[in-house]
Amino acid sequence: MRESRIGVLTSGGDCAGINPAVKWVVKTALDERLQREGRGQYDVLGIKDGWKGLIEVQPEEPSVQDYIVPLSQEIVRTWDRYGGSMLGTSRTNPYDPKNDQSKRVLANIEKLRLDALVVIGGDDTLGVAHRLEKEGVNVVGIPKTIDKDLPETDYTLGFESAVNIITEEIDRLRTTAGSHKRIFVVETMGRHTGWLALKGGESSGAYIILIPEHDFSPDKVNELVVEARRGGARYDIIVVAEGAKPSGAVEFIRQEGVDSFGHKFLGGVAESLAREIQEATKLETRSINLSHLQRGGAPCAYDRRMGRYFGIAAMDLVTTGCFGNMVCVRNGKITTCPLTNIVGRLKFVDVDTQYDVERYNGQRTILRTLEVKHVSG
Ligand code: F6P
Repeated sequence: MRESRIGVLTSGGDCAGINPAVKWVVKTALDERLQREGRGQYDVLGIKDGWKGLIEVQPEEPSVQDYIVPLSQEIVRTWDRYGGSMLGTSRTNPYDPKNDQSKRVLANIEKLRLDALVVIGGDDTLGVAHRLEKEGVNVVGIPKTIDKDLPETDYTLGFESAVNIITEEIDRLRTTAGSHKRIFVVETMGRHTGWLALKGGESSGAYIILIPEHDFSPDKVNELVVEARRGGARYDIIVVAEGAKPSGAVEFIRQEGVDSFGHKFLGGVAESLAREIQEATKLETRSINLSHLQRGGAPCAYDRRMGRYFGIAAMDLVTTGCFGNMVCVRNGKITTCPLTNIVGRLKFVDVDTQYDVERYNGQRTILRTLEVKHVSG
């Protein structure tokens, strides 16, 4: 029996948690028990630099190794400890309407004799995987993005590590903010959703949290800041998502134009808000954009475990021939969903149940009336 060949790639923004997933795809695929159990025999090729690798690779040339690396258990042994992507990544879109290179991808998948592709990515990357599947490629998806904005799954790799970083950095800001009696406005990533800001803000005990799902009033922010100072606060931390905006305004952008997936380059809201707060309240205010720090460093324990479970589950899909699906987690259980369910959709913070619109902060009741009644009989 010929070995089946799996390609694994990571595309889109990097994050902590990708490498553990790759490690466990490889370890599961190369586990010799699979063959004994009649679940197939596999070899795994790592594809470097995401979709760019599958466009640029020249399978018949010696330069093939620029983009293709055969993966063994020994190579990936320590990968779960490291952040970023050992395989490299890119934001290349093979279906970019201005430069469609999808035919090259399909031809290279053929030339590399890939029987299946395990794709680790967010909405853009998995959207490409879905289109390739429609063209006959056997794909399986693993969700990763610090934004945690994919539908159908309660978790995407990288999120918890990023929340830990936000929490640690805000802990650092607190000491300097307190010494100088300053307000700090901290900008997080997250694109059009507020998960990072909300969970990072909750974890770090931020006084105000601003998210894209609920436009804020700058006057109200100022009132809250003054109120806290009157109440004796020496300093305050305000966490603002890069996609948050004042009512009636548009998102702040750090650069004109859009990337090959059509995304604007968001950024700058913290700086602008800090200026406004200082002007209105006369309280000394500074801003900081945590930017790519949120994607850096080693994966936290949770991302190492989730990477492991997602990697193993992705191979379960491959060995059972359940292609066109993404592994996911719902209510604590690892499960799957069709890729088609996630394409073109984002998962937003539910403002009604997860956000306090009066205090611009996390939810103020956890157990809803009905549940409390149920518990008390
Ligand atoms: O999607 C992940 C993300 O980190 C977003 O939160 C952010 O807006 C974007 O990527 C930044 O992209 P880049 O690394 O290309 O600047």
